[in-house]
Amino acid sequence: MIEPNATLDASPTLAEALNNDAAVTAVADADAVSAPTDAQSPLTTDLTNNVHHQRWQSYLKDCRELIHLVEPLEVAGRIVKVTGLIMVATGIKMPIGGACYIPLQDGGRVEAEVVGFDGENLLLMPQSAVDGVVPGAKVFSMEITETLPKPQFGRPPRRRAQDRARHFPVGDALLGRVVDAAGNPLDNLGPISTEVTAPLSGRVINPLMRAPIEEPMDVGVRAINAMLTVGRGQRLGLFAGSGVGKSVLLGMMARYTTADVIVVGLIGERGREVQEFIEQILGPEGLARSVVVAAPADVSALMRLQGANYATAIAERFRSQGKNVLLIMDSLTRYAMAQREIALAIGEPPATKGYPPSVFAKLPALVERTGNGARGEGSITAFYTVLTEGDDQQDPIADSARAILDGHIVLNRTLAESGHYPAIDIEQSISRAMHNITSKEHQQAARLLKQLYSRYLRNQDLIAVGAYQPGSDPMLDVAIKKRDQINAFLQQDIDESAYMQACLQQLAQTVS
Ligand SMILES: Nc1ncnc2c1ncn2[C@@H]1O[C@H](COP(=O)(O)OP(=O)(O)OP(=O)(O)O)[C@@H](O)[C@H]1O
Ligand SMILES: [Mg+2]
Repeated sequence: MIEPNATLDASPTLAEALNNDAAVTAVADADAVSAPTDAQSPLTTDLTNNVHHQRWQSYLKDCRELIHLVEPLEVAGRIVKVTGLIMVATGIKMPIGGACYIPLQDGGRVEAEVVGFDGENLLLMPQSAVDGVVPGAKVFSMEITETLPKPQFGRPPRRRAQDRARHFPVGDALLGRVVDAAGNPLDNLGPISTEVTAPLSGRVINPLMRAPIEEPMDVGVRAINAMLTVGRGQRLGLFAGSGVGKSVLLGMMARYTTADVIVVGLIGERGREVQEFIEQILGPEGLARSVVVAAPADVSALMRLQGANYATAIAERFRSQGKNVLLIMDSLTRYAMAQREIALAIGEPPATKGYPPSVFAKLPALVERTGNGARGEGSITAFYTVLTEGDDQQDPIADSARAILDGHIVLNRTLAESGHYPAIDIEQSISRAMHNITSKEHQQAARLLKQLYSRYLRNQDLIAVGAYQPGSDPMLDVAIKKRDQINAFLQQDIDESAYMQACLQQLAQTVS
């Protein structure tokens, strides 16, 4: 090996010193080392004849060869305790959110994530059942550790912790596929072959760079298009108890929306429902332009959290390609419950209704990732279902969700029970972006329809017992006359699509 300092230390002439500087600058630029392309350049010509340059080159070449021989040292920790949902590992240093695995004696392995630490010990949350883990089992990090970044131009080394975390497949290869929270196919259609991967946590968008919500988005559902118009990049909550038609409504949107891509995150719902949603509600034509991420109730809390983040990461990738994405997350409440499970297991004290404070920090962190990208990028319009237990709208998750979302659509059990589907309660629902993205006439017509609808509801009992005298309230008279027309307008069958233009015409006819 050549010792470069020997030549550098010999007191150089001014011209040599200048040449040395040039040589050092040139080797810092790895492109110039591997491929001196421009033969005409005087600098290049000088360098090829420069003895210092040649020695440096030779030295760096030796270094490169040596580096290839180095094997990275793999550090392993040990499992010292497993209680309930948490494993404690010692002897390994990893950041919060870092992924690791524990090899099992039967050849399998348990993957886990660092969710906290206590002194020198790491608290790990396994992604699957921990059967087979023995006391003292080894723990290995799964972080991407690049010992030396290769000079690949246009692709900076992974400096951020989030970039060094595990990457999962994203992009077009996922279209039409059903995957689990780790990107493994669940649909028996073979492996997902893609080079395009992304970490689970996206980059935060500067709020000042985000494009505003300016254009309406056609979701294919009449009551929403006309009465609660959704903007491209808006985030809405779908608030409902169980069995009032959330899944059917989301499926209708997925099938009839004009969005380019649909990403569906089925988080913490029953396993049976996943298949039902895909086969019956979404159908083949809906699935063709969708990606479904399923993390049903029986997978670990960590995988349920991961499922929601993964679905968001997939949507973010499509958005960065300029696509308009519809993200459907069923449900946000189950996501919060998964976080509650983890937080309580690592010893966070419960605050509101058993939910520890970290839950209320995780919700906005997830929701803020969606919405419009920077100008010129695409958008993620998102629908999050929020379970209102016993139709209680005051649930802490519902409260918190209502505050962080740009609107909420409430499904009403009474409407569902009377066969009024989709059971959207237009009185209680609101789209906060509607007045920015719709015309004055549209807003007036929608307001009038809402007034007629409410007026009828308020007086329903009077009318039913015959106590109302026609003529005493002109508005109510119109409401009674138009009752059936309004109901027909607000209802929509599962197989019926309703496009924006047609919705607006029908709205105008209904209230005229
Ligand atoms: N637009 C509709 N037209 C006709 N029937 C509907 C419509 N929407 C929902 N339903 C009926 O409501 C039932 C329940 O709907 P769905 O499964 O979507 O409820 P859910 O709120 O998702 O329930 P869960 O809380 O159990 O997930 C459906 O099986 C269907 O019979
Ligand atoms: Mg459902």
